[in-house]
Amino acid sequence: MTIRLLSTRADLPGSGLRRLAAEAEVRSWAGAGRPGHGDLAALAPGSTGILALGNDPVDAALMAAAGPSLRVIALASMGFDNVDRAAARERGIVVTHTPGVLAETTADLTFALILAARRRIGAAAASLARGNWDLFRMHDHLGLDVHGATLGLVGYGQIGRAVARRAQGFGMRVIHHDPYAADDPVSASVGLETLLAEADIVSLHVPLTAETRHLISHRELAAMKPTATLVSTSRGGVIDETALLEAIRRGALHSAGLDVFEREPMGADLSPLVGEPNVIALPHIGSATDATRAAMVDLAVDNILDVLAGRPARTPLPG
Ligand code: DGY
Repeated sequence: MTIRLLSTRADLPGSGLRRLAAEAEVRSWAGAGRPGHGDLAALAPGSTGILALGNDPVDAALMAAAGPSLRVIALASMGFDNVDRAAARERGIVVTHTPGVLAETTADLTFALILAARRRIGAAAASLARGNWDLFRMHDHLGLDVHGATLGLVGYGQIGRAVARRAQGFGMRVIHHDPYAADDPVSASVGLETLLAEADIVSLHVPLTAETRHLISHRELAAMKPTATLVSTSRGGVIDETALLEAIRRGALHSAGLDVFEREPMGADLSPLVGEPNVIALPHIGSATDATRAAMVDLAVDNILDVLAGRPARTPLPG
Protein backbone atom coordinates (compact mmCIF):
# COMPACT_ATOMS: atom_id res chain seq x y z
CA MET A 1 0.00 0.00 0.00
CA THR A 2 1.36 3.45 -0.93
CA ILE A 3 2.14 5.70 2.01
CA ARG A 4 0.87 9.25 1.47
CA LEU A 5 2.26 12.37 3.06
CA LEU A 6 1.10 15.96 2.88
CA SER A 7 3.57 18.85 2.84
CA THR A 8 2.01 22.29 3.28
CA ARG A 9 4.70 23.73 0.98
CA ALA A 10 6.39 22.43 -2.17
CA ASP A 11 9.37 24.79 -1.96
CA LEU A 12 11.14 23.73 1.22
CA PRO A 13 14.90 24.23 1.59
CA GLY A 14 17.37 21.34 1.78
CA SER A 15 16.88 17.76 0.69
CA GLY A 16 14.11 16.87 3.14
CA LEU A 17 11.26 16.67 0.64
CA ARG A 18 13.35 14.50 -1.70
CA ARG A 19 14.08 12.11 1.19
CA LEU A 20 10.37 11.88 1.92
CA ALA A 21 9.53 11.34 -1.74
CA ALA A 22 11.87 8.33 -1.78
CA GLU A 23 9.73 6.69 0.92
CA ALA A 24 6.21 7.82 0.11
CA GLU A 25 3.91 9.67 -2.25
CA VAL A 26 4.19 13.31 -1.21
CA ARG A 27 1.41 15.76 -2.05
CA SER A 28 2.54 19.35 -1.58
CA TRP A 29 0.78 22.68 -1.74
CA ALA A 30 2.47 24.39 -4.69
CA GLY A 31 0.12 27.34 -5.17
CA ALA A 32 1.09 30.97 -4.85
CA GLY A 33 0.84 32.43 -1.36
CA ARG A 34 -0.33 30.81 1.81
CA PRO A 35 -2.43 27.64 1.43
CA GLY A 36 -6.04 28.10 2.50
CA HIS A 37 -7.70 25.53 4.68
CA GLY A 38 -9.61 24.09 1.74
CA ASP A 39 -6.38 23.75 -0.29
CA LEU A 40 -4.78 21.57 2.36
CA ALA A 41 -7.95 19.62 3.13
CA ALA A 42 -8.21 18.72 -0.56
CA LEU A 43 -4.68 17.25 -0.50
CA ALA A 44 -5.02 15.55 2.89
CA PRO A 45 -7.22 12.45 2.41
CA GLY A 46 -5.37 9.23 3.16
CA SER A 47 -2.25 10.97 4.52
CA THR A 48 -0.15 9.17 7.11
CA GLY A 49 1.84 12.28 7.94
CA ILE A 50 1.63 16.04 7.60
CA LEU A 51 4.71 18.25 7.32
CA ALA A 52 3.76 21.83 8.20
CA LEU A 53 5.36 25.15 9.04
CA GLY A 54 4.82 27.00 12.31
CA ASN A 55 2.19 29.31 10.82
CA ASP A 56 0.05 26.77 8.96
CA PRO A 57 -3.12 26.00 10.90
CA VAL A 58 -3.26 22.26 11.58
CA ASP A 59 -6.66 21.95 13.16
CA ALA A 60 -9.15 19.17 13.89
CA ALA A 61 -10.81 19.67 10.49
CA LEU A 62 -7.53 19.07 8.64
CA MET A 63 -6.86 15.98 10.76
CA ALA A 64 -10.37 14.75 9.97
CA ALA A 65 -9.77 15.41 6.25
CA ALA A 66 -6.62 13.26 6.41
CA GLY A 67 -8.66 10.49 8.00
CA PRO A 68 -7.77 7.57 10.28
CA SER A 69 -4.44 6.88 8.52
CA LEU A 70 -2.90 10.05 10.03
CA ARG A 71 -0.15 9.11 12.51
CA VAL A 72 2.24 12.05 12.65
CA ILE A 73 2.19 15.84 12.32
CA ALA A 74 5.75 17.13 11.96
CA LEU A 75 6.28 20.86 12.31
CA ALA A 76 9.34 22.51 10.81
CA SER A 77 9.25 25.01 13.67
CA MET A 78 9.92 25.29 17.35
CA GLY A 79 6.56 26.96 18.05
CA PHE A 80 3.50 24.72 18.03
CA ASP A 81 0.56 27.02 18.74
CA ASN A 82 -0.77 26.38 15.23
CA VAL A 83 -1.66 22.76 16.05
CA ASP A 84 -4.81 21.63 17.84
CA ARG A 85 -2.96 19.42 20.29
CA ALA A 86 -6.09 18.20 22.02
CA ALA A 87 -7.49 16.94 18.70
CA ALA A 88 -4.17 15.23 17.91
CA ARG A 89 -4.06 13.61 21.35
CA GLU A 90 -7.62 12.35 20.97
CA ARG A 91 -6.74 10.71 17.65
CA GLY A 92 -3.42 9.29 18.93
CA ILE A 93 -1.42 11.39 16.46
CA VAL A 94 2.23 12.12 17.36
CA VAL A 95 3.11 15.84 17.02
CA THR A 96 6.75 16.83 16.63
CA HIS A 97 8.61 20.14 16.37
CA THR A 98 12.20 21.27 15.80
CA PRO A 99 13.86 22.52 18.97
CA GLY A 100 17.65 22.73 19.13
CA VAL A 101 18.47 23.32 15.47
CA LEU A 102 17.23 26.92 15.45
CA ALA A 103 18.23 28.10 18.92
CA GLU A 104 21.55 29.78 18.04
CA THR A 105 20.21 31.43 14.88
CA THR A 106 17.18 32.80 16.73
CA ALA A 107 19.43 34.01 19.55
CA ASP A 108 21.55 35.88 16.96
CA LEU A 109 18.44 37.67 15.71
CA THR A 110 17.30 38.41 19.25
CA PHE A 111 20.60 40.15 19.86
CA ALA A 112 20.29 42.05 16.59
CA LEU A 113 16.88 43.35 17.77
CA ILE A 114 18.29 44.30 21.18
CA LEU A 115 21.09 46.29 19.56
CA ALA A 116 18.87 47.84 16.90
CA ALA A 117 16.17 48.93 19.35
CA ARG A 118 18.53 50.30 22.03
CA ARG A 119 20.77 52.13 19.52
CA ARG A 120 17.89 53.18 17.22
CA ILE A 121 19.68 51.71 14.23
CA GLY A 122 16.59 51.50 11.99
CA ALA A 123 15.67 55.17 12.48
CA ALA A 124 19.28 56.33 12.01
CA ALA A 125 19.73 54.29 8.82
CA ALA A 126 16.39 55.54 7.44
CA SER A 127 17.37 59.14 8.23
CA LEU A 128 20.64 58.77 6.32
CA ALA A 129 18.85 57.12 3.40
CA ARG A 130 16.64 60.26 3.21
CA GLY A 131 19.80 62.39 2.91
CA ASN A 132 19.58 63.90 6.41
CA TRP A 133 23.29 64.25 7.31
CA ASP A 134 24.54 67.77 6.94
CA LEU A 135 26.31 68.16 10.27
CA PHE A 136 27.55 65.95 13.10
CA ARG A 137 25.46 66.93 16.12
CA MET A 138 26.06 65.64 19.64
CA HIS A 139 22.36 65.11 20.24
CA ASP A 140 21.35 63.26 17.09
CA HIS A 141 20.35 59.61 17.10
CA LEU A 142 21.05 59.03 20.78
CA GLY A 143 20.28 55.56 22.07
CA LEU A 144 20.91 53.61 25.23
CA ASP A 145 23.84 51.34 26.03
CA VAL A 146 23.56 47.61 25.69
CA HIS A 147 26.86 46.75 27.36
CA GLY A 148 26.54 46.65 31.13
CA ALA A 149 22.71 46.66 31.00
CA THR A 150 20.50 44.14 32.82
CA LEU A 151 18.89 41.60 30.51
CA GLY A 152 15.71 39.90 31.73
CA LEU A 153 14.80 36.68 29.92
CA VAL A 154 11.21 35.51 30.22
CA GLY A 155 11.63 31.82 29.42
CA TYR A 156 15.02 30.21 29.89
CA GLY A 157 15.03 27.29 27.50
CA GLN A 158 17.44 26.70 24.62
CA ILE A 159 16.94 30.10 22.97
CA GLY A 160 16.89 32.07 26.23
CA ARG A 161 20.15 30.40 27.29
CA ALA A 162 21.77 31.09 23.92
CA VAL A 163 20.83 34.79 24.28
CA ALA A 164 22.25 34.78 27.83
CA ARG A 165 25.60 33.46 26.57
CA ARG A 166 25.80 36.29 24.05
CA ALA A 167 24.97 38.80 26.79
CA GLN A 168 28.02 37.70 28.76
CA GLY A 169 30.22 39.04 25.97
CA PHE A 170 28.54 42.42 26.42
CA GLY A 171 29.22 42.44 30.16
CA MET A 172 25.51 42.33 30.94
CA ARG A 173 23.83 41.17 34.11
CA VAL A 174 21.39 38.41 33.18
CA ILE A 175 18.28 37.39 35.10
CA HIS A 176 15.50 35.03 34.05
CA HIS A 177 11.98 34.08 34.94
CA ASP A 178 11.10 30.47 34.19
CA PRO A 179 9.30 28.16 36.63
CA TYR A 180 11.30 25.24 35.18
CA ALA A 181 14.82 26.76 35.34
CA ALA A 182 16.84 27.47 38.48
CA ASP A 183 19.90 29.76 38.90
CA ASP A 184 22.98 28.90 36.90
CA PRO A 185 26.40 30.58 36.62
CA VAL A 186 25.15 32.81 33.76
CA SER A 187 21.75 33.92 35.03
CA ALA A 188 19.83 34.25 38.29
CA SER A 189 16.25 33.04 38.54
CA VAL A 190 13.83 35.74 39.75
CA GLY A 191 10.08 36.29 39.90
CA LEU A 192 8.40 38.04 36.98
CA GLU A 193 7.73 41.20 39.03
CA THR A 194 11.43 41.52 39.93
CA LEU A 195 12.50 40.87 36.37
CA LEU A 196 10.18 43.53 34.97
CA ALA A 197 11.28 46.08 37.57
CA GLU A 198 15.03 45.46 37.21
CA ALA A 199 15.63 44.65 33.54
CA ASP A 200 16.75 47.26 31.02
CA ILE A 201 15.88 44.81 28.29
CA VAL A 202 13.08 42.24 28.62
CA SER A 203 13.30 39.48 26.01
CA LEU A 204 10.54 36.89 25.56
CA HIS A 205 11.34 33.21 24.96
CA VAL A 206 8.19 31.35 25.95
CA PRO A 207 5.89 29.39 23.63
CA LEU A 208 2.39 30.75 23.02
CA THR A 209 -0.02 28.76 25.19
CA ALA A 210 -3.22 29.56 27.09
CA GLU A 211 -0.98 30.55 30.06
CA THR A 212 1.33 32.86 28.12
CA ARG A 213 -1.24 34.64 25.90
CA HIS A 214 -0.92 38.37 26.69
CA LEU A 215 1.59 37.60 29.43
CA ILE A 216 2.88 41.12 28.76
CA SER A 217 -0.04 43.52 28.98
CA HIS A 218 -0.82 46.90 30.61
CA ARG A 219 0.18 45.88 34.15
CA GLU A 220 3.47 44.28 33.11
CA LEU A 221 4.41 47.18 30.83
CA ALA A 222 3.69 49.62 33.65
CA ALA A 223 6.03 47.60 35.88
CA MET A 224 8.93 48.05 33.43
CA LYS A 225 11.38 50.96 33.52
CA PRO A 226 10.46 53.81 31.14
CA THR A 227 13.98 53.39 29.74
CA ALA A 228 13.44 49.67 29.04
CA THR A 229 13.25 47.80 25.75
CA LEU A 230 10.88 44.90 25.08
CA VAL A 231 12.07 42.28 22.59
CA SER A 232 10.22 39.27 21.24
CA THR A 233 11.28 36.50 18.89
CA SER A 234 8.79 33.98 20.32
CA ARG A 235 5.15 34.49 19.30
CA GLY A 236 3.19 37.69 18.82
CA GLY A 237 0.32 36.63 21.06
CA VAL A 238 2.55 36.69 24.16
CA ILE A 239 2.32 40.50 24.02
CA ASP A 240 -0.90 42.51 24.18
CA GLU A 241 -0.04 44.69 21.18
CA THR A 242 -2.65 47.33 21.97
CA ALA A 243 -1.09 47.81 25.41
CA LEU A 244 2.41 47.91 23.91
CA LEU A 245 1.48 50.52 21.30
CA GLU A 246 -0.08 52.67 23.97
CA ALA A 247 3.00 52.38 26.24
CA ILE A 248 5.38 53.22 23.38
CA ARG A 249 3.32 56.22 22.23
CA ARG A 250 3.06 57.54 25.82
CA GLY A 251 6.82 57.25 26.25
CA ALA A 252 6.29 54.74 29.07
CA LEU A 253 8.79 52.42 27.36
CA HIS A 254 11.95 53.31 25.46
CA SER A 255 11.61 50.89 22.58
CA ALA A 256 10.59 47.50 21.27
CA GLY A 257 12.19 44.99 18.92
CA LEU A 258 9.63 42.62 17.43
CA ASP A 259 10.07 39.72 15.04
CA VAL A 260 6.60 38.30 15.73
CA PHE A 261 3.07 39.71 15.75
CA GLU A 262 -0.40 38.71 16.83
CA ARG A 263 -1.53 38.68 13.20
CA GLU A 264 0.85 36.97 10.77
CA PRO A 265 1.40 37.35 7.93
CA MET A 266 0.14 40.95 7.71
CA GLY A 267 -0.03 41.58 3.99
CA ALA A 268 -0.51 45.27 3.22
CA ASP A 269 -2.66 45.79 6.34
CA LEU A 270 0.27 46.53 8.67
CA SER A 271 0.14 46.46 12.45
CA PRO A 272 0.29 50.04 13.80
CA LEU A 273 3.47 48.98 15.61
CA VAL A 274 5.23 48.76 12.25
CA GLY A 275 6.62 52.17 11.43
CA GLU A 276 6.49 53.48 15.02
CA PRO A 277 9.76 55.40 15.46
CA ASN A 278 10.83 53.47 18.57
CA VAL A 279 9.85 50.05 17.27
CA ILE A 280 12.03 47.90 15.08
CA ALA A 281 9.73 45.39 13.39
CA LEU A 282 10.71 42.35 11.32
CA PRO A 283 8.64 39.80 9.37
CA HIS A 284 9.29 36.70 11.52
CA ILE A 285 12.85 35.96 10.41
CA GLY A 286 14.24 34.51 13.67
CA SER A 287 15.34 31.23 12.11
CA ALA A 288 15.89 32.58 8.59
CA THR A 289 19.30 31.40 7.49
CA ASP A 290 19.87 28.86 4.72
CA ALA A 291 21.52 26.37 7.05
CA THR A 292 18.99 26.62 9.84
CA ARG A 293 15.89 26.47 7.66
CA ALA A 294 17.28 23.35 5.93
CA ALA A 295 18.10 21.80 9.33
CA MET A 296 14.52 22.45 10.51
CA VAL A 297 13.04 20.68 7.48
CA ASP A 298 15.53 17.83 7.87
CA LEU A 299 14.61 17.28 11.50
CA ALA A 300 10.89 17.39 10.67
CA VAL A 301 11.47 14.78 7.95
CA ASP A 302 13.51 12.60 10.34
CA ASN A 303 10.61 12.73 12.77
CA ILE A 304 8.16 11.57 10.08
CA LEU A 305 10.45 8.76 8.92
CA ASP A 306 11.00 7.61 12.51
CA VAL A 307 7.27 7.39 13.17
CA LEU A 308 6.63 5.63 9.85
CA ALA A 309 9.32 3.09 10.76
CA GLY A 310 7.75 2.47 14.18
CA ARG A 311 10.54 4.25 16.08
CA PRO A 312 9.92 6.97 18.68
CA ALA A 313 10.02 10.46 17.16
CA ARG A 314 13.26 12.38 17.85
CA THR A 315 11.67 15.61 19.01
CA PRO A 316 8.04 15.10 20.00
CA LEU A 317 6.25 18.00 21.65
CA PRO A 318 6.76 18.00 25.40
CA GLY A 319 3.90 16.43 27.44
C1 DGY B 1 9.73 28.66 15.05
O1 DGY B 1 10.47 27.73 14.76
O2 DGY B 1 8.89 28.59 15.95
C2 DGY B 1 9.90 29.89 14.25
O3 DGY B 1 9.27 30.97 14.85
C3 DGY B 1 9.36 29.67 12.86
O4 DGY B 1 8.01 29.31 12.93
